[in-house]
Amino acid sequence: MQLFSLLTLAAAATASPALFGQPMTKIAGVEVIDTQIVRDAQAMIKQFPDYLYSHQMRSWLFGAAMINANATLRKNIDLEVHAIATMLHDLGWDMTPGSRWVSSDKRFEVDGAIGARTWLSEHPIGKYWAKDRVRKVFQAIALHGSGSIVDYFELEEAVIVQSIGQDYHGPVNGVSQTSYDAIAKQFPQTELLSGTNDTFVWLAATKPSTTWGKSISRPAFT
Ligand SMILES: *[C@@H]1O[C@H](CO)[C@@H](O)[C@H](O)[C@H]1NC(C)=O
Ligand SMILES: *[C@@H]1O[C@H](CO)[C@@H](O)[C@H](O)[C@H]1NC(C)=O
Repeated sequence: MQLFSLLTLAAAATASPALFGQPMTKIAGVEVIDTQIVRDAQAMIKQFPDYLYSHQMRSWLFGAAMINANATLRKNIDLEVHAIATMLHDLGWDMTPGSRWVSSDKRFEVDGAIGARTWLSEHPIGKYWAKDRVRKVFQAIALHGSGSIVDYFELEEAVIVQSIGQDYHGPVNGVSQTSYDAIAKQFPQTELLSGTNDTFVWLAATKPSTTWGKSISRPAFT
């Protein structure tokens, strides 16, 4: 009986940090996970221009509101994986000259995925993350421009991309308009479309060959 309880607890800890009593706080009225690594991710993105910082914060918060509204998601989503992936998903949009996150030859989603993985590997807690969690962060970010693909990956990865999508398409999956508006009030969307447009113009100007995809990687056939 005792062994059974321990196994149940261990399974709950793996399945859901929230179930295991992780620290939580409220931002813009949304209950979110409040661990050191999640705070460090917030501090890191705060260095970006406001449109980019607030887009990444809203992506996290819209997603957290979606998870909170759905019992299946509350039970199954790793809240730290979700927080880190949503908050770091656009490192590839850093227009700072000489940015360490931006390559000259990879599409921005891949820069973001590599950047988030690098950030985790350099973080005092993140460097001990299980490979499985790092992989989910990497794949969700790499595929965040490909909703029609990522929906068929693992639940976390699909949910991360649905979280980001809400910033452009409005509330989905149980997120109330009231909750959505409270988030948008604290982190205004005023510069979202102009900032996105400026970034795409900059990507097209600085690395045009990354602005379209290849269905098959050529080196495999040479
Ligand atoms: C909760 O989320 C799951 C997984 O995305 C989805 O299949 C289900 O329809 C959602 N339930 C509600 C009530 O929205
Ligand atoms: C995006 O920016 C370019 C360059 O400044 C501008 O010509 C274009 O009209 C903008 N597009 C939108 C949809 O704002």
